[in-house]
Amino acid sequence: MNRRAPSANLVLFGFMASGKSTLGKLLSSRLGMGFIDADEWIENQARKEVWRIFAEEGEARFRDLERQAVSHAASLTGTVISTGGGVPLHEGNLATLTASGVPFFLDVTPEVIFSRLSGDESRPLASHLENPDDVKKLLDLRRPFYQTIPNRIDASTRTPAELADEIVNRFRALAGECT
Ligand code: S3P
Repeated sequence: MNRRAPSANLVLFGFMASGKSTLGKLLSSRLGMGFIDADEWIENQARKEVWRIFAEEGEARFRDLERQAVSHAASLTGTVISTGGGVPLHEGNLATLTASGVPFFLDVTPEVIFSRLSGDESRPLASHLENPDDVKKLLDLRRPFYQTIPNRIDASTRTPAELADEIVNRFRALAGECT
């Protein structure tokens, strides 16, 4: 069966280190769709890394750039969009992206997140997360936002390839684009 690339976007949400960028690239090649990573887009626009934007211009400036990244990504079609972990917390972002395609929430336990984040100095909001309990506290604050995202994927234990299988199947059914 021939499949054409869907015109709806596929949007990945989730906490830091939930696998959005890795999975986004894999899904774009599996589905023959474009790919955009919101943080990479911001870094290209600002010509500096995310941690440096936070350090030199503050979080408010980063969130402003993030809103611009969301508007740009939502204007695309047939694209897999990997968002930053804070995207759904800020006014309008979730609605804008959901209107452009099919959203998925990658749900990962605090223990797994903590093990992936340890030693990572590129994430400004991760530097204060010293144990799984710190991660749980931040995740609990954010959970009300993440819980509004349709299509939850349990992403703690399965490999990216296994997760991609499930998301591809669910996306094709939801986007209704099989030919
Ligand atoms: C953030 C997550 C980061 C990045 C920025 C803020 C957050 O992206 O956008 O450091 O608020 O959770 P990842 O989710 O890719 O780490």
